[in-house]
Amino acid sequence: MQFELAVWGGASGRRLRRRRSGFDRLPWGTLRIDQAQPAALAEARKVWTNGAFTEFASGAAFATLAGLLCEAGAPLDLVAMAADFAVDEMDHAELAGRLLAELGGSTPYEMDFAKVTPLATDGAEPVLRAVEIALKTSAIGEALSVPVLSRSMAAADHPLVKAVLGRISRDEAHHPKLADLVLEWAEPVVKGHQAHLRELALETIEAYAPLWQRTPCDTCQLAPTYGGFAQQEYRELLRASVQRRVVLPLLRRGLDLRGERLSALLRDDEASPS
Ligand SMILES: [Fe+2]
Ligand SMILES: [Fe+2]
Repeated sequence: MQFELAVWGGASGRRLRRRRSGFDRLPWGTLRIDQAQPAALAEARKVWTNGAFTEFASGAAFATLAGLLCEAGAPLDLVAMAADFAVDEMDHAELAGRLLAELGGSTPYEMDFAKVTPLATDGAEPVLRAVEIALKTSAIGEALSVPVLSRSMAAADHPLVKAVLGRISRDEAHHPKLADLVLEWAEPVVKGHQAHLRELALETIEAYAPLWQRTPCDTCQLAPTYGGFAQQEYRELLRASVQRRVVLPLLRRGLDLRGERLSALLRDDEASPS
């Protein structure tokens, strides 16, 4: 089905606005798309459609994590943090959706809402299931999106795009922290399943690897106006972030991802001599 965002409005809409205030103070209505290059606009609509979906999917992941932490009998402040981050992500999805409307609307994006939540190992103990989702979502997915969003915000030269990215980045900076807390709380389970969790983490990094391994595409450079920056810089930023923001924090929690498989995933084919 085509991905579409909906806001119910009324009491639920007002509550979300109260909980995440300032949305209406952003400089909405200032994007002048009539002056934009058609190709740049088409690329911006594509990138922001994907962005709206990934924000919604991150919300689904944190909502799933909140449920799993409840099943695991986790400390209530960990549960609250996961649920709070799910609200952040719904706010981000709405921000991306509203920006998309100003860009002329979303582009075709096939997806299945029934498959939007990440899966944990069927039948595993609840603590392990919670650790798995914390690892995939917060320790890797979120950790890799933080530097990219900050760099996009710095690149954006339109006040509305900058404000939207600024608001998203402000929240995102906290999202990788939850995995660290969950892994600290679940230390005995992490220790008991090190090989399995290491494999899961490497599989997750592998799923993101096309982002830094893909050959540059001449026609898909997002313009700085809409938050784009050089593709080479994007790939280098992601590679460095895997080391600094994923591998090191996980090493401190007893998960050592270093080795041949990680090195192969981080190899820079563009830079290797041919
Ligand atoms: Fe987000
Ligand atoms: Fe996030």
